[in-house]
Amino acid sequence: MQSTLKPFLSALALAAAAANWAPARAGQDTVQVLHWWTAGGEAGALQVLKDELLRHDVQWQDVPIAGGGGAQAMTTLRARVLAGDPPSAAQLAGFDIADWSHQGVLQDLNPIAQRQDWARKVPKALQDFDVYQGRWIAAPIDVHSSNWLWASRQVLTRSGITRPPATWDEFLADLAKVKKAGFVALAAGGQPWQIATMFDGVVLSTGGPDFYRRSLLERDPKVLDSPTMIKAFERMSALRSFVDQGYANRDWNEATAMIMQGRAGFQMVGDWALGEFNHARQVPGKDYLCVRTPGTQGSVTYHSDALVFFKRGAKDLEAQRITAEAVMSPEVQIGFNRIKGSAPALLGVSPESFNACGRKAIADLAQADARGTLLGSLSQGNAVPPAVKGAFFDVIAREFNGAITPTEAARQLAAAAKAQY
Ligand code: BGC
Repeated sequence: MQSTLKPFLSALALAAAAANWAPARAGQDTVQVLHWWTAGGEAGALQVLKDELLRHDVQWQDVPIAGGGGAQAMTTLRARVLAGDPPSAAQLAGFDIADWSHQGVLQDLNPIAQRQDWARKVPKALQDFDVYQGRWIAAPIDVHSSNWLWASRQVLTRSGITRPPATWDEFLADLAKVKKAGFVALAAGGQPWQIATMFDGVVLSTGGPDFYRRSLLERDPKVLDSPTMIKAFERMSALRSFVDQGYANRDWNEATAMIMQGRAGFQMVGDWALGEFNHARQVPGKDYLCVRTPGTQGSVTYHSDALVFFKRGAKDLEAQRITAEAVMSPEVQIGFNRIKGSAPALLGVSPESFNACGRKAIADLAQADARGTLLGSLSQGNAVPPAVKGAFFDVIAREFNGAITPTEAARQLAAAAKAQY
């Protein structure tokens, strides 16, 4: 992407915004935000930020690009920036943030960050992505994690299961029981990012946190092409035998709906699913269960959504400033995240108003951070740069769909890691 963007960018009239963050206001300001928060829980969470902005006289102009994981949103964003028409702000996560910053199109948020003391308030693991070459370029709004297993309480009971699985073997046995009882065992969607989301948990469960780090974060070819990685792919194939026919084009929130409606037993997806349960007013422990992917207890594969701000000229600065400040307010972070299912991106925010799964998410994060088992999620872009991520997704999806064997998949992962992008 970098090489294609560059010549166009130099032609853009973006230089105007050498951010002087305090121009005079003339009437109501507008902030145009590109994002992929279109499911019920996501939209509900976003409303908290929109309401806060209205209180500051900033009108929200929505640019929603449906599609979990943000693949479509990134395509649209790229096209708009290339056309010289970036939105005022966009949702980004992980390595994508540095990639955009590298293009020179993002606002430097340092003056705001210094005033609000973001350096002291934001966890270090997030600053690694939100600060680029000494400059804050993103305002983090949440922390999600992907190694979760969600279960329908009713389906489990009707399948003769009395507790959620804690080990991989228990999980496989439970999937078989649910299938036998006539339900869909594993609710899933066939989009590569959804398959990769399951892979995060499977790799962590199969090899443990050190193996996850050395394979997916450090991309050691010998660890990528190893018996443990082959075993992880074999586990992916085993999972494939528990999804239903209709999985290919299913969105992640439709899969969550199968759990909520008592049609499926389990879903392996990040805690944005919690936003859907919250939105449907389902109750943890009564209607659904949230546990870590069996075998991954004690570790967390994380990423954080952030808003970045594009250079669009002086007329946008005030609305951008107010938006960035609102994102970083504790009230907005609590309101947004308790609906969305994520943890706040600010340290020291009270977990009191979160439900049991939300409180577990917050506690698990802190514990993993302290133990050194907080790991960037591959599926959500916190492990490797975007081009490598794309190549990995391709291998993972092809193996899941039976196009290549687990042994071939491990070999291809190692090859993809070595390639120059
Ligand atoms: C984002 C979440 C979002 C999920 C599904 C993830 O990539 O980080 O905020 O809820 O996709 O749309």
